[in-house]
Amino acid sequence: MNILVLGSGGRENALTWKIKQSPKVDNLYVAPGNAGTAAIARNVDMSVNDFEAIKQFVLANNIDMVVVGPEEPLVRGIYDFFKGDAAIAAIPVIGPSQEGAKLEGSKDFAKQFMMRHDIPTARYQSFTQEQLEDAYRFLGELKAPYVLKADGLAAGKGVLIINDLDEAKCELKNMLGGMFGDASRTVVIEEFLSGIECSVFVLTDGDSYKILPVAKDYKRIGEGDTGLNTGGMGAVSPVSFADAAFMKKVEERIVIPTVEGLKKDNIEYKGFIFIGLIRVDGEPMVIEYNVRMGDPETEVVMLRIQSDLVDLLDGVAKGTLDIQSLEEDSRYATTVMLVSGGYPGDYAKGMEISGLDDVTDSILFHAGTATKDGKVVTSGGRVIAVSSYGKTKDEALALSYRNAEKITYTGRYYRKDIGFDLQ
Ligand code: AMP
Ligand code: GLY
Repeated sequence: MNILVLGSGGRENALTWKIKQSPKVDNLYVAPGNAGTAAIARNVDMSVNDFEAIKQFVLANNIDMVVVGPEEPLVRGIYDFFKGDAAIAAIPVIGPSQEGAKLEGSKDFAKQFMMRHDIPTARYQSFTQEQLEDAYRFLGELKAPYVLKADGLAAGKGVLIINDLDEAKCELKNMLGGMFGDASRTVVIEEFLSGIECSVFVLTDGDSYKILPVAKDYKRIGEGDTGLNTGGMGAVSPVSFADAAFMKKVEERIVIPTVEGLKKDNIEYKGFIFIGLIRVDGEPMVIEYNVRMGDPETEVVMLRIQSDLVDLLDGVAKGTLDIQSLEEDSRYATTVMLVSGGYPGDYAKGMEISGLDDVTDSILFHAGTATKDGKVVTSGGRVIAVSSYGKTKDEALALSYRNAEKITYTGRYYRKDIGFDLQ
């Protein structure tokens, strides 16, 4: 098979690494990719949102499957673009239809979906600018802290959690006034949930499903989960509190109603569902849906899938996922993200990275790197994810940290406490 992966981060490097292991793969391409994917596949200089260019590439290179990494092309309707064009309609796109992608593209849509299908989530209401007074009244009914969410995609920055009521009202007004552009013309206000979070990934062919290894990511820049939110500073899998009893509740109350709900609503969905969960008094509740894999969770989840991922994806495409097997590696996997100094604020790019060849017993997934004059340089805030296996979480982390220290560039930073809140 010839496979095209869309995206350029650590997630796509990890997906490509796993797909590459399949004996079914002939040619593997990544668009646009990074220095890490260039080492194991062919990078193609093409935007993930340029559907016309993707079509031409797919036809010219006899691509048999397109695996979509990030949410944006999905929310923009790449699945429907393929289905609607006779020349490429038969080529599977792993990802939901545009309607399905609304689970991530519109928080209001996702909340309505959860309400309709009795999926446990925080109490909420949605408001537009015309409903400002009603919105203030609803805020007044809730207890601090106040959770304000831009309805649309806002590059991971659209959620504000505010302690003071007056400040929450002020930020709400700013959001409705266009603080996140059109994404915040509608704002979801919801009840604050207190608990520990984890990420559950489901692969579905629209009928059956497989639950992939559970992971926990660490979003804040600072140790002890302090400071600004980032794209993710590290991840661990499995997650100690997501034991069999908890996962049974997740499957019965959340995964099955989600897959069944998509069917009842006639929403085509052949791809990954990322369920952001929080455990409140022992019970799972949904914080959010994403319609893709998580980053950096993919950098541990791929290590823990033993089965051939291409077989699973082929099952998704053909509607035969139920007959595919999903074997999990019983070891722990961890990843530690090396980032640029200053991230998630301003940071420099183009810093030369050394020590990559000195790494032993870890797997490196490039997140923000490029090749310049034959050298690997930084090209993003998140630079490299150092992923490792271990019999225990601590053993895996020790390897990730030992190798993280060997990779150097000006401004390198990483969190030294990934997994600190797990047993
Ligand atoms: P989201 O963009 O929806 O993932 O939200 C970003 C982060 O905000 C989540 O990972 C949670 O840590 C937090 N968050 C979102 N909604 C709530 C909520 N209702 N209660 C508590 N924390 C929340
Ligand atoms: N790690 C969270 C995300 O990918 O959105």
